Amino acid sequence: MDNTKIAAILGTGHYVPKKRLTNADLEKIVDTSDEWIVTRTGIKERRIAAPEEATSDLAAEAGRRALEAAGIKADELSLIIVATVTPDTSFPSTACLVQKKLNAGQVPAFDLAAACSGFLYGVELARQMINTGSQKYILVIGAEVLTRITDYEDRGSCVLFGDGAGAAVIGPGKVSGHGIIDCIMGADGNFSEPLALPAGGSRLPASHETIDAHLHYMKIQGRAVYKLAVTHIVEVVRDLLARNQIDPKAIGMYIPHQMNLRIMEAAADRLGITMEQVYVNIEKYGNTSAASIPIALDEAVRNGQVKNGMDMVLVAFGSGLTWVASLLRW
Ligand code: ACO
Repeated sequence: MDNTKIAAILGTGHYVPKKRLTNADLEKIVDTSDEWIVTRTGIKERRIAAPEEATSDLAAEAGRRALEAAGIKADELSLIIVATVTPDTSFPSTACLVQKKLNAGQVPAFDLAAACSGFLYGVELARQMINTGSQKYILVIGAEVLTRITDYEDRGSCVLFGDGAGAAVIGPGKVSGHGIIDCIMGADGNFSEPLALPAGGSRLPASHETIDAHLHYMKIQGRAVYKLAVTHIVEVVRDLLARNQIDPKAIGMYIPHQMNLRIMEAAADRLGITMEQVYVNIEKYGNTSAASIPIALDEAVRNGQVKNGMDMVLVAFGSGLTWVASLLRW
């Protein structure tokens, strides 16, 4: 690859299930209100997968749309990465199921587990592999059916989550200097407890007891997560922009993981930027974990808000803890 050309996002796509779960629907299930949910989170509705839909179905459709947008055929791919915490099954990987659904031949495929940071972790892997010339076109997908691991008896968490998938084809950029410029990733396993799915793995395999105790559903300590999220998002964005000598105010668009509108507002405030610079669609989809950034990116691209030459920051925070921020020049 010409060394002035860097890995870039060549096309994006997303897919969300048709069925909407509104705040009014949730009022019938748990003791909550539209007013509480909107003021505390910004969420008005979220999508919920049909019973026959699993993560690979959503992922494949988002992937198909991203390939179409990039003008790349599935059999031209050199790798498929699916970031998810809700794989169809522990194994085979969801990425292998997506490979089959896309008729992508025998292209290598694997899942990546970094929770809400998964998509951007995948983009960073793809960027490095493309910049070294070892791979040509990599499909990175973030896809989740979180409603299958959501406890609809826990009002503190069930109002937050939704289903969806977003994807991007990463390949050699066409314009010098435009593409994925830099990325910082981080993790801290000391804080693994506040956001977890306790059972179903090797620590607590499925049993009648784990099912009775609702341990196959996400457990979140909302308050603690809220504070950690704001701190890490602000820190990683500051570090990324400082080492690239860019003022946070000069960024054309920030796409943060959509976990709570108030978290995005608090982070924006601390960074000294305005909410006009921040892309928000949480009102429609809630928190879709690894899918939230690629869904938002694809929306912003398709509705014309992403302009050529625009500097963008994509930033995620999630279970692990994990965090990541990527700097792009579109
Ligand atoms: N409806 C009405 N009342 C509620 C609800 C609800 N759905 N949920 C909680 N409450 C009550 C609580 O019981 C509490 O009542 P109390 O004061 O009588 O005890 C009160 O509202 C305040 O509760 P808090 O938890 O302090 O509310 P907070 O303002 O922190 O908002 C929230 C809670 C929305 C969860 C927020 O903390 C948050 O967004 N945290 C981060 C979200 C998160 O963890 N996301 C998971 C990411 S993991 C992943 O993406 C896979």
